[in-house]
Amino acid sequence: MPQIELRHIADYVGQEVTVRGWVYDRTDKGKLQFIRLRDGTGQVQCVAFKKEMAEDEFEIAGKLTQESSITITGTVRADSRAPGIPGGFEIGLKTLSLVQMAQDYPITPKEHGVEFLMDNRHLWLRSNRQWAILRIRATIVKAMRDYMDDHGFLLMDTPIITPAAGEETTTLFELDYFGEPAFLAQTGQLYNEANMAAFGKVYCFGPTFRAEKSKTRRHLIEFWMLEPELAYCTLEELMDLEEGLVTYVVQQVLDKNRPELQLIERDVSKLEAITSPFPRISYDEAVQRLHKLAAETDDPEQKTLLAIEWGDDFGSPHETALTQMFDRPVFVYHYPTQIKAFYMQPVAGRPEVCRSVDLLAPEGYGEIIGGSERISDYDLLLERLKAQKLPVENYSWYLDLRKYGTVPHAGFGQGLERTVAWICGLQHVRETIPYARLISRKYP
Ligand code: 4AD
Ligand code: MG
Repeated sequence: MPQIELRHIADYVGQEVTVRGWVYDRTDKGKLQFIRLRDGTGQVQCVAFKKEMAEDEFEIAGKLTQESSITITGTVRADSRAPGIPGGFEIGLKTLSLVQMAQDYPITPKEHGVEFLMDNRHLWLRSNRQWAILRIRATIVKAMRDYMDDHGFLLMDTPIITPAAGEETTTLFELDYFGEPAFLAQTGQLYNEANMAAFGKVYCFGPTFRAEKSKTRRHLIEFWMLEPELAYCTLEELMDLEEGLVTYVVQQVLDKNRPELQLIERDVSKLEAITSPFPRISYDEAVQRLHKLAAETDDPEQKTLLAIEWGDDFGSPHETALTQMFDRPVFVYHYPTQIKAFYMQPVAGRPEVCRSVDLLAPEGYGEIIGGSERISDYDLLLERLKAQKLPVENYSWYLDLRKYGTVPHAGFGQGLERTVAWICGLQHVRETIPYARLISRKYP
């Protein structure tokens, strides 16, 4: 008798099978017990009928609690009304063997508060919704990697322990490295600039760390980032790459995760609209559009939220408003130099703006990718490091790259969790990663 994974149940209609899993829930109808069984790969309704089972086993079926572990054998039947993942199948039980009767599983079908659920994250993962989201996350990770691998990028793993800041120094996590200060990586970019000169096109994809002191629905302390870096690449070519990558990733989720998208009630028409080309607007134009919107709105609160002066960074109300002007992601390029990182190339003849580009996801999600052309000139880079009061001696290797065959180059970082939040249509990034690290949470 084949022992099967429920994701393959459709291949076994009419056959007797063994399944090993957990009880998701149970409905008692006297001589009939409906047991929703999950095995991690799917879910199926099992029907325990008194007449068809040994007496002691049927008795156990009638006592099963939520999340008890069991193995069963039975016959697979097609039944279009049967709930499940995938739906449309049912197993008529022959035998049932109890592995463990669970006691007082804390997460019940009733509503729980988010903090309670986050405290029980190690169990919450078993719920349908979380299961679906994390499977979509896995598809997204694979799609991002595949896209890079298939387009000639070499995977380079960059260090997590670093001697210097890669982004804003205010979000650094400091470590004691045998008596010397060291930091958790905020980005793999600086190392990838070295790797780029050795291999042409590279990427890293790993955890990055930022001691973000604010509580928002977009910020994690530990998040994953895909970071490609390309030699001889312009900002326009970088946008082309981002567009190709993002459309591919969305398509992969649409191809592979329809049942999961349905489980989380995602409006897939919003995802189906994600096709090339994406609109490209300058920071200047974005500010003009926000001014116009603020002028036209009658809501005084909205007017205050949308207020912005040229040179200011966008807050989330601005990003939200900008993304609502389009049905697909929008590129905003040439941000003011003063609000961006030290390594960004100034625009020729207009150094107050830089060759940077952010990709803002629609439906109010905002920035999911940040990228730029990098400064390739030694003197200018040195000047920028000094201006930002960064310890130049720690960047000596980074400056070397500008001494030996420096080339124009560019790259970007795509935040995985923000991408998952957008594709899944979630309110908060905390559900996009198995164990979120937030300002007030490092448990479990
Ligand atoms: O714009 P950021 O800070 O860019 C960099 O780190 C560059 N060094 C990347 C590069 O060019 N190689 O971050 C890039 C992306 C953001 O667009 C966002 O999606 C994500 O990383 N991100 C975060 N995601 C979750 N929580 C946080 N605290 C994040 N900070 C950035
Ligand atoms: Mg950014």
